[in-house]
Amino acid sequence: MNINGKTKTCGLIGNPVEHTLSPVIHNGLAQHENHNLVYVPFQVENDKVKEAVEGAYALNLHGLNVTVPHKSAVIPYLKKIDKLAENIGAVNTLVRTEGGYKGYNTDMPGLCRAMESENYTITGESVILLGAGGAARAVAMLCMEQGAKEVFVLNRSVEKAQAIAKEVSDIYKEGTITPMALHDYKKLPDHKKYLAIQATSVGLYPNVEDAVILEEDFYDKVHAGVDLIYNPYETKFMSLVKAHGGRAMNGLKMLLYQGIIAYELWNQVSISEEVAMEILKKMKEELNIHE
Ligand code: ATR
Repeated sequence: MNINGKTKTCGLIGNPVEHTLSPVIHNGLAQHENHNLVYVPFQVENDKVKEAVEGAYALNLHGLNVTVPHKSAVIPYLKKIDKLAENIGAVNTLVRTEGGYKGYNTDMPGLCRAMESENYTITGESVILLGAGGAARAVAMLCMEQGAKEVFVLNRSVEKAQAIAKEVSDIYKEGTITPMALHDYKKLPDHKKYLAIQATSVGLYPNVEDAVILEEDFYDKVHAGVDLIYNPYETKFMSLVKAHGGRAMNGLKMLLYQGIIAYELWNQVSISEEVAMEILKKMKEELNIHE
């Protein structure tokens, strides 16, 4: 690419950032859209988040993504915050505005768009949410926002599931959210078929034979499974869902669409599905995935 005086710079702040796929997404989009824009990862230490956000603004950076562990830490240094990001309590995208950045969360809209593209729906579903960490908390908000019929949050530490259920029901008065211990899945009525969303870190490479629930009878209750993990490309959770007759998808498209939505916010454009699929192809090449 030809970098010149008009090149816009976007970037990612996180720690670590070495293995990020975001440059593949954003530099790929800039190339497809013929935009004079470059995207660079920046490693930012935990005690330097304020300096990073203010410094980025001072350097006229056009937009930033924020990843682990800074997604909540950036919030005090923003000029504004979008409502969904505020409810989730985590920001992954900063959009340049007059006087400072505005924070958005594109992870959840990204998950939504990824699920839609694979014909998975949350609206009206009975959802089992596995996990109660930062990712699960965001998924719980999304489920309520999307009008899930009911949500069961299952976590190893039940008090964290309880905390999420309380926070979520304080914001969303409609719909029910029930915290449970992992092994309590046995109490869920058998005749129901659930959409299970896997939002723990269990099963992530290199622990590819792990799943947060390994008991086979759990998977009889599941008609569709969504794992937020994409490495491995098919997790143990996904293979168990499939072995019991369900459909399953991984988190790679969520990563793709969270990036696309950020790019759309930065540049006021709409990315076509055709271009999205081109970028997905590049991401798979980078991950060495051959289907
Ligand atoms: P993230 O921000 O990616 O959600 P996190 O906040 O550290 O990461 O949350 C990790 C999730 O994976 C939690 O739900 C955690 O369960 P606990 O709250 O009980 O710690 C879950 N998790 C991680 N390792 C686990 C394991 N070995 N067994 C069961 N759950 C596990």
